[in-house]
Amino acid sequence: MKQKLVSLAVFGAMMAVGASAALAAAPADWSKVPKTDIHVFHPGVAPIEWVQGKGEHSGASGLKKGESCAGCHIEDGKLSLDVKRLQSKELEPKGAPKVGTYPVGVQAAYDATNLYVRLTFKAPAGGADKSDKENAVKASLMFPNAQVPMGEQIGCWATCHQDARTMPGADDKKTKYVKGGAFDLLQWRSSNKSFDGSVTDKRTMEGGKAGANAEGTKAGDTYTVTFTRKLAGNAVLAAGKAVTFGVAIHADNAGGRFHHVSFNQTIGLGADGDIKAVKQ
Ligand code: HEC
Repeated sequence: MKQKLVSLAVFGAMMAVGASAALAAAPADWSKVPKTDIHVFHPGVAPIEWVQGKGEHSGASGLKKGESCAGCHIEDGKLSLDVKRLQSKELEPKGAPKVGTYPVGVQAAYDATNLYVRLTFKAPAGGADKSDKENAVKASLMFPNAQVPMGEQIGCWATCHQDARTMPGADDKKTKYVKGGAFDLLQWRSSNKSFDGSVTDKRTMEGGKAGANAEGTKAGDTYTVTFTRKLAGNAVLAAGKAVTFGVAIHADNAGGRFHHVSFNQTIGLGADGDIKAVKQ
Protein backbone atom coordinates (compact mmCIF):
# COMPACT_ATOMS: atom_id res chain seq x y z
CA MET A 1 0.00 0.00 0.00
CA LYS A 2 1.30 3.38 -0.97
CA GLN A 3 -0.40 6.25 0.72
CA LYS A 4 0.04 9.65 -0.81
CA LEU A 5 2.04 11.33 1.88
CA VAL A 6 4.20 13.51 -0.31
CA SER A 7 2.56 16.85 -0.75
CA LEU A 8 2.84 18.73 -4.01
CA ALA A 9 4.99 21.35 -2.30
CA VAL A 10 7.51 18.77 -1.13
CA PHE A 11 7.48 17.19 -4.55
CA GLY A 12 8.12 20.59 -6.12
CA ALA A 13 11.04 21.13 -3.75
CA MET A 14 12.53 17.78 -4.71
CA MET A 15 12.31 18.72 -8.35
CA ALA A 16 13.99 22.04 -7.62
CA VAL A 17 16.94 20.33 -5.95
CA GLY A 18 17.54 18.61 -9.23
CA ALA A 19 18.41 15.29 -7.62
CA SER A 20 15.32 13.89 -9.26
CA ALA A 21 15.86 15.16 -12.76
CA ALA A 22 14.74 11.77 -14.02
CA LEU A 23 11.47 12.05 -12.10
CA ALA A 24 8.83 12.27 -14.75
CA ALA A 25 5.36 13.66 -14.24
CA ALA A 26 1.94 13.26 -15.75
CA PRO A 27 0.91 15.79 -18.40
CA ALA A 28 0.34 19.20 -16.92
CA ASP A 29 -2.48 19.86 -19.35
CA TRP A 30 -4.69 16.84 -19.91
CA SER A 31 -7.06 18.93 -21.98
CA LYS A 32 -4.53 18.54 -24.81
CA VAL A 33 -4.67 14.75 -24.63
CA PRO A 34 -7.47 13.09 -26.63
CA LYS A 35 -10.17 11.30 -24.64
CA THR A 36 -11.84 8.08 -25.74
CA ASP A 37 -14.88 6.54 -24.08
CA ILE A 38 -14.67 2.92 -23.04
CA HIS A 39 -17.97 1.38 -21.99
CA VAL A 40 -17.76 -0.63 -18.80
CA PHE A 41 -20.53 -3.07 -17.91
CA HIS A 42 -21.62 -5.29 -15.07
CA PRO A 43 -20.35 -8.72 -16.14
CA GLY A 44 -22.68 -10.80 -13.95
CA VAL A 45 -21.51 -14.35 -13.42
CA ALA A 46 -19.81 -14.83 -16.77
CA PRO A 47 -16.30 -16.05 -15.86
CA ILE A 48 -13.93 -17.52 -18.41
CA GLU A 49 -15.38 -21.00 -17.84
CA TRP A 50 -18.81 -19.68 -18.86
CA VAL A 51 -17.41 -17.79 -21.83
CA GLN A 52 -15.59 -20.89 -23.10
CA GLY A 53 -18.56 -23.18 -22.52
CA LYS A 54 -20.14 -23.83 -25.91
CA GLY A 55 -23.64 -24.52 -24.57
CA GLU A 56 -24.12 -21.11 -23.05
CA HIS A 57 -22.00 -18.69 -25.06
CA SER A 58 -22.18 -18.81 -28.83
CA GLY A 59 -18.91 -16.88 -28.98
CA ALA A 60 -17.03 -19.91 -27.61
CA SER A 61 -16.05 -21.40 -30.97
CA GLY A 62 -14.96 -18.02 -32.40
CA LEU A 63 -12.88 -17.55 -29.28
CA LYS A 64 -11.19 -20.88 -29.92
CA LYS A 65 -10.33 -19.69 -33.43
CA GLY A 66 -8.59 -16.65 -32.00
CA GLU A 67 -11.22 -13.92 -32.12
CA SER A 68 -11.11 -11.51 -29.19
CA CYS A 69 -13.91 -10.48 -26.84
CA ALA A 70 -13.69 -6.89 -28.04
CA GLY A 71 -13.55 -8.06 -31.66
CA CYS A 72 -17.04 -9.54 -31.35
CA HIS A 73 -18.52 -7.32 -28.67
CA ILE A 74 -17.39 -3.80 -29.62
CA GLU A 75 -18.59 -2.16 -32.80
CA ASP A 76 -17.52 1.40 -33.63
CA GLY A 77 -16.60 1.95 -30.00
CA LYS A 78 -20.05 0.83 -28.78
CA LEU A 79 -20.86 -2.33 -26.86
CA SER A 80 -22.59 -5.07 -28.76
CA LEU A 81 -23.74 -6.95 -25.70
CA ASP A 82 -27.05 -7.83 -24.09
CA VAL A 83 -26.49 -5.93 -20.86
CA LYS A 84 -30.05 -6.69 -19.67
CA ARG A 85 -29.21 -10.40 -19.82
CA LEU A 86 -26.21 -9.70 -17.59
CA GLN A 87 -28.55 -8.04 -15.10
CA SER A 88 -31.08 -10.88 -15.21
CA LYS A 89 -31.35 -13.84 -12.84
CA GLU A 90 -29.79 -16.06 -15.51
CA LEU A 91 -26.39 -14.39 -15.20
CA GLU A 92 -26.74 -12.44 -11.97
CA PRO A 93 -28.40 -14.55 -9.28
CA LYS A 94 -27.76 -12.11 -6.43
CA GLY A 95 -29.24 -9.00 -8.04
CA ALA A 96 -27.48 -6.62 -10.41
CA PRO A 97 -26.58 -2.94 -10.17
CA LYS A 98 -29.38 -0.81 -11.63
CA VAL A 99 -27.03 0.75 -14.16
CA GLY A 100 -25.74 -2.00 -16.43
CA THR A 101 -23.24 0.04 -18.44
CA TYR A 102 -21.72 3.52 -18.54
CA PRO A 103 -18.83 5.30 -20.25
CA VAL A 104 -15.38 5.90 -18.79
CA GLY A 105 -13.28 8.55 -20.53
CA VAL A 106 -9.74 7.28 -21.01
CA GLN A 107 -6.66 9.38 -21.80
CA ALA A 108 -3.05 8.27 -21.92
CA ALA A 109 0.41 9.74 -22.23
CA TYR A 110 3.91 8.33 -21.96
CA ASP A 111 7.56 9.30 -21.74
CA ALA A 112 10.80 7.36 -21.57
CA THR A 113 9.96 5.99 -18.11
CA ASN A 114 6.24 5.96 -17.48
CA LEU A 115 2.76 5.48 -18.84
CA TYR A 116 0.07 7.79 -17.47
CA VAL A 117 -3.58 6.83 -17.73
CA ARG A 118 -6.38 9.11 -16.70
CA LEU A 119 -9.97 7.95 -16.18
CA THR A 120 -12.96 10.30 -15.97
CA PHE A 121 -16.35 8.90 -15.02
CA LYS A 122 -19.56 9.31 -13.06
CA ALA A 123 -19.90 6.36 -10.71
CA PRO A 124 -23.56 5.31 -10.77
CA ALA A 125 -25.69 4.74 -7.67
CA GLY A 126 -28.07 1.80 -7.43
CA GLY A 127 -25.52 -0.86 -6.53
CA ALA A 128 -26.63 -4.36 -5.56
CA ASP A 129 -23.67 -5.19 -3.33
CA LYS A 130 -22.29 -2.62 -0.93
CA SER A 131 -19.79 -4.77 0.90
CA ASP A 132 -16.88 -2.31 0.73
CA LYS A 133 -17.79 0.03 3.57
CA GLU A 134 -14.55 2.00 3.34
CA ASN A 135 -14.60 2.92 -0.33
CA ALA A 136 -17.45 4.43 -2.25
CA VAL A 137 -15.45 3.91 -5.43
CA LYS A 138 -12.45 1.92 -6.62
CA ALA A 139 -10.84 2.19 -10.06
CA SER A 140 -8.48 -0.47 -11.38
CA LEU A 141 -6.35 -1.14 -14.42
CA MET A 142 -4.89 -4.50 -15.35
CA PHE A 143 -2.22 -5.30 -17.93
CA PRO A 144 -1.42 -8.92 -18.91
CA ASN A 145 2.16 -9.85 -19.73
CA ALA A 146 3.06 -11.84 -22.83
CA GLN A 147 2.98 -15.16 -20.96
CA VAL A 148 -0.68 -14.98 -19.97
CA PRO A 149 -2.52 -17.55 -22.09
CA MET A 150 -4.83 -15.61 -24.46
CA GLY A 151 -3.98 -12.41 -22.57
CA GLU A 152 -4.27 -10.09 -25.56
CA GLN A 153 -7.40 -11.82 -26.74
CA ILE A 154 -9.45 -11.90 -23.55
CA GLY A 155 -7.86 -9.27 -21.27
CA CYS A 156 -9.03 -9.47 -17.66
CA TRP A 157 -11.11 -12.58 -18.33
CA ALA A 158 -7.89 -14.58 -18.04
CA THR A 159 -8.09 -13.84 -14.29
CA CYS A 160 -11.83 -14.28 -13.84
CA HIS A 161 -12.79 -17.75 -12.66
CA GLN A 162 -15.96 -19.33 -11.35
CA ASP A 163 -14.22 -20.55 -8.18
CA ALA A 164 -12.93 -17.10 -7.17
CA ARG A 165 -14.25 -15.22 -4.17
CA THR A 166 -17.72 -13.66 -4.36
CA MET A 167 -18.72 -15.99 -7.20
CA PRO A 168 -21.74 -18.09 -6.22
CA GLY A 169 -20.63 -20.89 -3.89
CA ALA A 170 -16.91 -20.01 -4.12
CA ASP A 171 -14.34 -20.03 -1.31
CA ASP A 172 -14.06 -16.51 0.10
CA LYS A 173 -10.26 -16.80 0.36
CA LYS A 174 -9.64 -17.65 -3.27
CA THR A 175 -8.76 -14.55 -5.25
CA LYS A 176 -8.58 -14.01 -8.98
CA TYR A 177 -5.69 -15.87 -10.65
CA VAL A 178 -4.13 -16.78 -13.99
CA LYS A 179 -3.00 -20.13 -15.36
CA GLY A 180 0.41 -18.86 -16.41
CA GLY A 181 1.96 -15.43 -16.80
CA ALA A 182 1.15 -12.40 -14.70
CA PHE A 183 -0.88 -9.20 -14.73
CA ASP A 184 0.03 -5.83 -13.32
CA LEU A 185 -2.86 -4.69 -11.14
CA LEU A 186 -3.16 -0.97 -10.36
CA GLN A 187 -5.88 0.29 -8.07
CA TRP A 188 -7.09 3.58 -6.65
CA ARG A 189 -9.55 3.68 -3.76
CA SER A 190 -11.67 6.66 -2.81
CA SER A 191 -10.42 6.37 0.78
CA ASN A 192 -7.36 7.81 -0.99
CA LYS A 193 -5.10 4.79 -1.21
CA SER A 194 -3.20 3.54 -4.17
CA PHE A 195 -2.01 0.00 -4.84
CA ASP A 196 0.66 -1.57 -7.03
CA GLY A 197 -0.27 -5.23 -7.19
CA SER A 198 -0.25 -8.22 -9.47
CA VAL A 199 -2.20 -11.30 -10.40
CA THR A 200 -0.31 -14.58 -10.77
CA ASP A 201 -1.53 -17.82 -9.21
CA LYS A 202 -3.20 -15.43 -6.79
CA ARG A 203 -3.90 -11.74 -6.48
CA THR A 204 -1.64 -9.54 -4.39
CA MET A 205 -2.33 -5.86 -3.85
CA GLU A 206 1.25 -5.00 -2.87
CA GLY A 207 4.77 -5.64 -4.12
CA GLY A 208 3.84 -5.20 -7.78
CA LYS A 209 6.39 -4.64 -10.50
CA ALA A 210 4.94 -1.61 -12.24
CA GLY A 211 6.05 0.97 -9.64
CA ALA A 212 2.51 2.22 -9.84
CA ASN A 213 0.59 4.85 -7.99
CA ALA A 214 -2.68 6.67 -8.48
CA GLU A 215 -4.38 9.86 -7.43
CA GLY A 216 -8.04 10.66 -7.62
CA THR A 217 -10.41 13.54 -7.10
CA LYS A 218 -14.15 14.02 -7.14
CA ALA A 219 -15.72 17.19 -8.49
CA GLY A 220 -19.51 17.24 -8.42
CA ASP A 221 -20.41 13.71 -9.40
CA THR A 222 -17.37 13.16 -11.61
CA TYR A 223 -14.32 11.19 -10.56
CA THR A 224 -10.95 11.78 -12.14
CA VAL A 225 -8.29 9.18 -11.42
CA THR A 226 -4.75 9.38 -12.77
CA PHE A 227 -2.52 6.31 -12.74
CA THR A 228 1.23 6.37 -13.23
CA ARG A 229 3.09 3.16 -13.99
CA LYS A 230 6.54 2.34 -15.24
CA LEU A 231 6.95 1.05 -18.77
CA ALA A 232 8.69 -1.84 -17.01
CA GLY A 233 6.61 -4.30 -15.02
CA ASN A 234 5.09 -7.73 -15.52
CA ALA A 235 3.78 -6.30 -18.77
CA VAL A 236 6.68 -4.62 -20.54
CA LEU A 237 5.56 -1.53 -22.41
CA ALA A 238 7.55 0.16 -25.16
CA ALA A 239 7.25 3.09 -27.51
CA GLY A 240 6.00 1.99 -30.92
CA LYS A 241 3.91 -0.82 -29.42
CA ALA A 242 0.39 -1.32 -28.14
CA VAL A 243 -0.35 -2.89 -24.78
CA THR A 244 -3.52 -4.74 -23.78
CA PHE A 245 -5.34 -3.54 -20.70
CA GLY A 246 -8.71 -3.61 -18.98
CA VAL A 247 -10.57 -1.17 -16.73
CA ALA A 248 -12.73 -2.01 -13.72
CA ILE A 249 -14.77 0.39 -11.60
CA HIS A 250 -16.36 -0.58 -8.31
CA ALA A 251 -19.12 1.99 -7.79
CA ASP A 252 -21.48 2.58 -4.87
CA ASN A 253 -19.38 0.66 -2.31
CA ALA A 254 -19.35 -2.49 -4.43
CA GLY A 255 -17.01 -5.33 -3.55
CA GLY A 256 -15.68 -8.37 -5.40
CA ARG A 257 -17.34 -9.21 -8.68
CA PHE A 258 -19.90 -6.40 -8.42
CA HIS A 259 -17.80 -4.13 -10.58
CA HIS A 260 -18.26 -2.74 -14.06
CA VAL A 261 -15.51 -3.88 -16.41
CA SER A 262 -14.23 -3.38 -19.93
CA PHE A 263 -13.36 -5.95 -22.54
CA ASN A 264 -9.73 -6.27 -23.68
CA GLN A 265 -8.62 -2.89 -25.01
CA THR A 266 -5.28 -1.54 -26.16
CA ILE A 267 -3.23 1.56 -25.51
CA GLY A 268 -0.87 2.39 -28.37
CA LEU A 269 2.33 4.11 -27.29
CA GLY A 270 3.03 6.00 -30.46
CA ALA A 271 1.30 3.11 -32.21
CA ASP A 272 -2.25 2.18 -33.17
CA GLY A 273 -4.58 1.30 -30.32
CA ASP A 274 -8.09 1.79 -28.98
CA ILE A 275 -6.51 4.53 -26.90
CA LYS A 276 -3.62 6.49 -28.35
CA ALA A 277 -1.08 7.51 -25.76
CA VAL A 278 0.47 10.89 -26.45
CA LYS A 279 4.22 11.17 -26.23
CA GLN A 280 5.50 13.91 -23.97
C1 HEC B 1 -16.92 -14.99 -32.13
C2 HEC B 1 -17.58 -13.88 -31.45
C3 HEC B 1 -17.52 -13.82 -29.94
C4 HEC B 1 -16.40 -13.80 -29.17
C5 HEC B 1 -14.96 -13.96 -29.57
C6 HEC B 1 -16.86 -13.59 -27.82
N1 HEC B 1 -18.23 -13.50 -27.80
FE1 HEC B 1 -19.37 -13.20 -26.15
N2 HEC B 1 -21.07 -13.45 -27.26
C7 HEC B 1 -21.08 -13.62 -28.62
C8 HEC B 1 -22.46 -13.75 -29.06
C9 HEC B 1 -22.92 -13.98 -30.49
C10 HEC B 1 -23.26 -13.61 -27.89
C11 HEC B 1 -24.79 -13.61 -27.88
C12 HEC B 1 -25.51 -14.49 -27.01
C13 HEC B 1 -25.00 -15.89 -26.86
O1 HEC B 1 -25.18 -16.68 -27.78
O2 HEC B 1 -24.44 -16.23 -25.81
C14 HEC B 1 -22.34 -13.44 -26.78
C15 HEC B 1 -22.74 -13.25 -25.46
C16 HEC B 1 -21.90 -12.89 -24.42
C17 HEC B 1 -22.30 -12.55 -23.08
C18 HEC B 1 -23.71 -12.54 -22.51
C19 HEC B 1 -24.46 -11.30 -22.84
C20 HEC B 1 -25.14 -11.38 -24.18
O3 HEC B 1 -24.93 -10.44 -24.99
O4 HEC B 1 -25.84 -12.34 -24.44
C21 HEC B 1 -21.16 -12.24 -22.40
C22 HEC B 1 -21.03 -11.79 -20.96
C23 HEC B 1 -20.05 -12.41 -23.30
N3 HEC B 1 -20.53 -12.82 -24.52
C24 HEC B 1 -18.74 -12.20 -22.95
C25 HEC B 1 -17.66 -12.49 -23.76
C26 HEC B 1 -16.28 -12.42 -23.34
C27 HEC B 1 -15.85 -11.99 -21.96
C28 HEC B 1 -15.53 -12.80 -24.39
C29 HEC B 1 -14.03 -12.97 -24.43
C30 HEC B 1 -13.44 -13.78 -23.36
C31 HEC B 1 -16.42 -13.08 -25.48
N4 HEC B 1 -17.71 -12.89 -25.07
C32 HEC B 1 -16.01 -13.46 -26.73
C33 HEC B 1 -19.98 -13.64 -29.46
C34 HEC B 1 -18.67 -13.64 -29.07
